[in-house]
Amino acid sequence: MANLGPQIAIITDDPGWHGRELVNALAQHGLGARYVSLTECQFRFEDSGRPVSMPGFEDYYPIGVFVRGVPGGTLEQVILRLDILHALSYMGIVVYNEPRSIERTVDKAMTTLLLKQAGLPTPSTWVFESIAEAQSLCNSEIASGRSLVMKPLFGSQGLGIHRVSKDTPLVHDEKFAGVYYLQSFVERSKSEWSDIRVFVIDGQSIAAMHRHGNSWITNRAQGARCENLPLDKPLTELAEAAVRAVDINYAGVDLIVDKDGKLQIIEVNSIPAWWGLQSVTDFNLAARIIDDFVSKIAGSQPLTSQS
Ligand SMILES: Nc1ncnc2c1ncn2[C@@H]1O[C@H](COP(=O)(O)OP(=O)(O)O)[C@@H](O)[C@H]1O
Ligand SMILES: [Mg+2]
Repeated sequence: MANLGPQIAIITDDPGWHGRELVNALAQHGLGARYVSLTECQFRFEDSGRPVSMPGFEDYYPIGVFVRGVPGGTLEQVILRLDILHALSYMGIVVYNEPRSIERTVDKAMTTLLLKQAGLPTPSTWVFESIAEAQSLCNSEIASGRSLVMKPLFGSQGLGIHRVSKDTPLVHDEKFAGVYYLQSFVERSKSEWSDIRVFVIDGQSIAAMHRHGNSWITNRAQGARCENLPLDKPLTELAEAAVRAVDINYAGVDLIVDKDGKLQIIEVNSIPAWWGLQSVTDFNLAARIIDDFVSKIAGSQPLTSQS
């Protein structure tokens, strides 16, 4: 029997503007959506019945799951939330971005590994558990006139990142969870603080912006001002190569132009916000993302009955 409820689950604890944009874009395809928190999803491994329970989808599974947010928590909670996404994906439901892509990009060490393996330009990076090793690396880099950026392994929005230089020592904070992810600080070509965000959907760079910050941390969430940046060939190709390296449906790629004018890839975001980019882009980004999501659903073959 055909169900009359929403066909799409948007995974989020904080729908806001992005949630509304997605719902509107899905409506253009005749698809209804419901917001679902991963914290409310459950496994029910019984002899019969459906293994994943999602609020609002009691009698049938969604045909597509759009992931807008995976809330933080204990390591066990985060793994369970990702397991739920994996389970839905194993059942043949389109989960977008795919859980394995989210895992690869949320983990900054894994992203760096994949970018380096693909031979792409990204700063030198070291990841240690040992404080002594971390300190010794900082000492030798600083002695050679360089500085470093220390980032939480699972960080976002520029939160918790520190610069380690001769004036600012290594920090030992619980935010870093016993892992020292240390990256060479990229000196920029211009005197002002800026970086670049490129939006890539289905392998194609579609829009970009400069983010002008008040400090070297140029996330929009840290108050950076957005300015449209026309895409040129080097930027387009490098952002697309970064996305291929981590193998992801859509992403926001962060890049810095170094003092020699060379592009350096800093990060690939699997759950990028696009409010700032939308404010300097003359077409609707949510519509483009949803067009791709819907085309993936149209091309998918559910592996099990979803009713
Ligand atoms: N290696 C670096 N050198 C100089 N600036 C950096 C470096 N890494 C990050 N930044 C700055 O900090 C911001 C946040 O870093 P990023 O790695 O993107 O982490 P987050 O996940 O918190 O956004 C970047 O947008 C950039 O402005
Ligand atoms: Mg970033």
